[in-house]
Amino acid sequence: MTLKIRRLVLPLAFAFVGFLPSCGYDFVVPEKLPEIDPEEPISFATQIEPIFAKNNQCTACHKTGATSPNLSAGNAFASIVPSLVNTTEPESSKIYQYPHPSTATHSWKKYELSDAALILEWIKQGAKNN
Ligand code: HEC
Repeated sequence: MTLKIRRLVLPLAFAFVGFLPSCGYDFVVPEKLPEIDPEEPISFATQIEPIFAKNNQCTACHKTGATSPNLSAGNAFASIVPSLVNTTEPESSKIYQYPHPSTATHSWKKYELSDAALILEWIKQGAKNN
């Protein structure tokens, strides 16, 4: 009796383990970009700085005493402006382009497209500490 159960359990266990990796499959849903109204001022404090802290996605490494730039709350603006922004050629700003999902430069965490779009618009509006 016990022997029979063993004969069943082992193959079943293997079958299950073999099945596991095939469970996850990626399918890419194109991200919907937010409508950004250039007339509507983007606030650094309420819209840009929280991007860096979201799920600790940037501040895990870019924080006080760690990797530069310091993107933690209260420090991010001074670390980014003026060195990492270019208001005359906003697309070339390092804070926008370096962690952009379609560039391969930053091998760490990258932005979501919607966040990158907000950052670009904030730079186009003059990269203000607002
Ligand atoms: C796992 C750690 C880690 C995370 C998370 C991370 N970075 Fe970085 N980042 C680095 C390291 C290390 C460097 C320096 C080496 C390099 O250029 O890749 C760097 C470099 C940069 C630079 C270039 C700085 C300069 O002066 O040249 C920018 C801009 C940057 N990161 C932004 C971000 C943003 C924005 C996020 C969140 C979306 C982020 N990083 C998340 C580790 C990280």
